[in-house]
Amino acid sequence: MVKVSPSLLASDFSDLRGEIKAVSTADFLHLDVMDGHFVPNLTIGPCVISSIRPHSNLPFDTHLMIDNPLKYIEPFAKAGSDYITVHVEQPDDIRECISKIQSYGKKAGLAISPDTDASLLEPYLENISMITVMSVYPGFGGQKFIESSYQKIREIKKMIEGKDILLSVDGGVDFENVRKLEEAGVTMVVAGSTVFGAENRENAIEILRGE
Ligand code: DX5
Ligand code: ZN
Repeated sequence: MVKVSPSLLASDFSDLRGEIKAVSTADFLHLDVMDGHFVPNLTIGPCVISSIRPHSNLPFDTHLMIDNPLKYIEPFAKAGSDYITVHVEQPDDIRECISKIQSYGKKAGLAISPDTDASLLEPYLENISMITVMSVYPGFGGQKFIESSYQKIREIKKMIEGKDILLSVDGGVDFENVRKLEEAGVTMVVAGSTVFGAENRENAIEILRGE
């Protein structure tokens, strides 16, 4: 069984409250934040997160695809994120980002893009609670899963053995590849189109989870 974190990016933004309710049986809610610099797309900011916070009991898994996240950790923490993830490829000091996230009582995560070597995560493994392996190039939902992600997941699984770190995969996760991803070592899957594109979201979550 894996934990399921539906990515709100694929939801109907005209009915956020309804969409959030429809995925209330999930384990997390994944919130994709994009700045038009780190990735070529713009999405939501802290005000959207604080507006939806009262309508969900799920832990919020905020994925910052932004440059200079240090400047924005405070508002995202105060908006009600539970986990805040920054990319290893962004320019700010990663240790500083992790400490800042933790200074607000939040759990820190690191995300890694498809072309980045897994070894870049190694120096931070004692201090983080989540790793997000990007299995598409960050920026857009609905992309095709990159097959080399399995190998990277296996590699990271070995690196984090015995550590209390959630190993998450983000991008192109569907009913076909989810069990293979679980076998490779993920303990959590982020899924946008597969959950929000399904007629019955609860059912999609159950299938992904492997119940
Ligand atoms: C991509 C985002 C993902 C994306 C996943 O940059 O980080 O969270 O929304 O969407 P799907 O599951 O549709 O690939
Ligand atoms: Zn994401």
